[in-house]
Amino acid sequence: MLESKVPRESIYLATKLSTTNLDEGAAYDTLQAELDGFWPAAYADLCYLHFPSDDSLPSWRALERLHDEGRCRQLGLSNFGQAQIEELVRQARVKPAALQIQFSVYEPCSPAFLRWLRGQGIAVVAAASLNPNATCNLNPMQDPHVVAIASKHGRTTAQVLLRWLLQQNVAVLPRSSSTEHIRQNSQLDFTLSDGEVAVLGALSTLLQSRPGFLRPDGASDLFGVAS
Ligand SMILES: NC(=O)c1ccc[n+]([C@@H]2O[C@H](COP(=O)([O-])OP(=O)(O)OC[C@H]3O[C@@H](n4cnc5c(N)ncnc54)[C@H](OP(=O)(O)O)[C@@H]3O)[C@@H](O)[C@H]2O)c1
Repeated sequence: MLESKVPRESIYLATKLSTTNLDEGAAYDTLQAELDGFWPAAYADLCYLHFPSDDSLPSWRALERLHDEGRCRQLGLSNFGQAQIEELVRQARVKPAALQIQFSVYEPCSPAFLRWLRGQGIAVVAAASLNPNATCNLNPMQDPHVVAIASKHGRTTAQVLLRWLLQQNVAVLPRSSSTEHIRQNSQLDFTLSDGEVAVLGALSTLLQSRPGFLRPDGASDLFGVAS
């Protein structure tokens, strides 16, 4: 990044404190060392607490100190559930700006949780949305429903899966080592119909439901698998 001609302000740098159950001093030192590892006096636009722990407050206090010092512009959480966020927010001085969670057609976030996060002003960042190994052995980019929708729009299945998230006001974080894929993943200027959004939102019911048992919570039984 330093060697490129891209100005720092044009880059959004996010990092995570991944070690759990540290005391405040150790958490501060760990994240500070990580930031120093980028380059001297580097700042991150967003620093996440990667996982909840028995008591996440000491780590959060460390993030708040780095926020005060301008080294973490915004703070975020990752893999926290609603109760864990509520507990932390009750004691936090700096509120979380974002929640990063695994979120894909096979592992969607519950609509109620999404609504709650929106009400709290916490942005949702979806991770592992394309990864075939994230939840099961199916590759969402080869799912026939996704393939059909992609071919109707003349787009790739990856673009459809990412666009589906954007239409739920969710930010996307696709990882790619391919220039062509990175280019594709940034071209999401098309619109899925409400019906297409609903079909994609119901795919997880095909994996998780059985007659008389509709899962995941809040899903609609569009395919009639539970009835
Ligand atoms: N909060 C958490 O606990 C959590 C959990 C999982 C992941 N994450 C974060 O989310 C990021 C992404 O998640 P992930 O690593 O699971 O991967 P992902 O972004 O869901 O999927 C990455 C895979 O998709 C392929 N891909 C990307 N764009 C594509 C395209 N347009 N067409 C075809 N294939 C495409 C990539 O291959 P190519 O390289 O060939 O493009 C790569 O194999 C990670 O870097 C990590 O930071 C966070």
